[in-house]
Amino acid sequence: MIIMDKVAIVTGSSSGIGFETALALARNGCYTYATMRDTKKNGKILEIAKKENLKIEVLELDVDKEDTIKNAVGKIVQDKKRIDVLVNNAGYFLVGCLEDLSIKDMRAQFETNFFGVARTIQEVLPTMRMQKSGIIVNVSSVAGRIGFPVTPAYISSKFALEGLSESMRYELAPFNIKTVIIEPGVVKTNLFASLKKVTKPDSIYKDITEKVMQGLVMMSEMGTPAQDVARAIINAISSENPLPRYPVGNDAIMFLEAKKSKTDIEFENYIKKELFS
Ligand SMILES: NC(=O)c1ccc[n+]([C@@H]2O[C@H](COP(=O)([O-])OP(=O)(O)OC[C@H]3O[C@@H](n4cnc5c(N)ncnc54)[C@H](OP(=O)(O)O)[C@@H]3O)[C@@H](O)[C@H]2O)c1
Repeated sequence: MIIMDKVAIVTGSSSGIGFETALALARNGCYTYATMRDTKKNGKILEIAKKENLKIEVLELDVDKEDTIKNAVGKIVQDKKRIDVLVNNAGYFLVGCLEDLSIKDMRAQFETNFFGVARTIQEVLPTMRMQKSGIIVNVSSVAGRIGFPVTPAYISSKFALEGLSESMRYELAPFNIKTVIIEPGVVKTNLFASLKKVTKPDSIYKDITEKVMQGLVMMSEMGTPAQDVARAIINAISSENPLPRYPVGNDAIMFLEAKKSKTDIEFENYIKKELFS
């Protein structure tokens, strides 16, 4: 156990990576605010916290709703007078080819996966700047580095998150605020069961959508455990000089290595072979 006497906030703690990260932070000594948009889902985490005597408090926070962010962060600052760690984890998976998606669908995906992160960060920054320390962990994905058919909105939201994270790392370094990006491959969580799929009734993309969906569901069953992602987050937070990025899972490492070592065309052919052969 790495003892960290820190105040941490995690978004999207009701399940998956957020749930495991909130627990891991608390097990490593942090006073952890496990935030969730629906606090009726607090049963399991509070039960574990009680059993293990962990410092976990559940607060309502919906990253789409500014007032819930302000309320949660306001309460934390009032109670603890500091915020050391913010893990931006909340997100969902929108599936559908570009021609099948409406702009409204795409805006909603960005609202949560990108603007939700930006507005949560904006809310904690005055506190972190004042204390001259802090670390912000943005849970992106290997999908934040690699294009893939059938998931263009999700991929674009994560590419945008990578751009935000890289840029803010420079802006916040003078205040001793660190930024890291976590890039998991496929992780075994609720993300796939709760995904939003959009296909028009007469879509010409039905076949490719089904094929990619089936592949993703199959991969998710063999996915990296969410605990491994939580461990990578703890590793990043406890490092003196955190790296800009932490890929998690053999699939993520394999894809990112291939992207680095190949030309764009070679990489495109590699993805086509992985997908369609
Ligand atoms: N699973 C993967 O293969 C994978 C791979 C790479 C990256 N990721 C990223 O990891 C993050 C966590 O996903 P997961 O895999 O752990 O899936 P998950 O089990 O479905 O967890 C997603 C969490 O986000 C929450 N959420 C969704 N919209 C929200 C909103 N507007 N405000 C607050 N919370 C919201 C969900 O809350 P509810 O319970 O209320 O829905 C849930 O707690 C996401 O950003 C995802 O893109 C996942």
